[in-house]
Amino acid sequence: MSFFEIDFAKPKKFKITSSVLGISLFLGLFFALLINFFPEIFFNPLIMLIILLLAFFIVFSLIIVNKYWFKIIVKGPPFALCTPDKVEIMVELLNVKPGEKIAELGSGDGRIAIALAKKGAVVTGIEISFILCLVAKINVAKEKLQDKIKFVRGNFWNMNYSDFDAITLFGIPYIMEDMEKKLHGELKKGARVVVNNFTFPNWKPAKQKENIFLYLKD
Ligand SMILES: C[S@@+](CC[C@H](N)C(=O)[O-])C[C@H]1O[C@@H](n2cnc3c(N)ncnc32)[C@H](O)[C@@H]1O
Repeated sequence: MSFFEIDFAKPKKFKITSSVLGISLFLGLFFALLINFFPEIFFNPLIMLIILLLAFFIVFSLIIVNKYWFKIIVKGPPFALCTPDKVEIMVELLNVKPGEKIAELGSGDGRIAIALAKKGAVVTGIEISFILCLVAKINVAKEKLQDKIKFVRGNFWNMNYSDFDAITLFGIPYIMEDMEKKLHGELKKGARVVVNNFTFPNWKPAKQKENIFLYLKD
């Protein structure tokens, strides 16, 4: 699991992230080799100035080109798990019916998926982190709920949710606008979305308990 994988970025941003990281590593290695074989450039102010300008350019482009990636380096990955009382409220607001298909976007260690499956839902957890996916699978096995829950190790932006009756999400503020467009565009009529902590900018919640919001697709 690399740190930039935990980003909530869209696939396009992942590509930019990877290429910016690749270019930076390549340039870093290139200059390290250059200085190793030609140490005299250390004493050449013009070359040092060029190297410094290039370094500035790389850092600047990281900030401009991909603010998500930069945020993660500076602040650390946006990762938190739902507390048990919030899980309870999410399940309550969803009012799960047995056999319903629910997608949990960013399923973490599987705690929400497990709570939903215990109410009879058939859950698909989508999780970008390989390690969290593994932890979630172990937790599900401990609860003997393997027939009710499956985990997809991948990017939730790449999935289509038209087949699901409900969605659960505990994301981060900067994804909410794009996520609203995606879910509103893909979900079938009557589908529900329960979001922990953050609201969609335009979609009005049908119900709210504490900081958990229920949205209905009309
Ligand atoms: C705030 S945590 C919530 C975890 C879990 N749903 C809970 O409430 O306990 C967000 C989760 O989303 C995952 N995640 C972030 N970006 C993702 C993406 N693009 N695709 C899939 N999972 C992602 C993170 O790895 C993290 O586990």
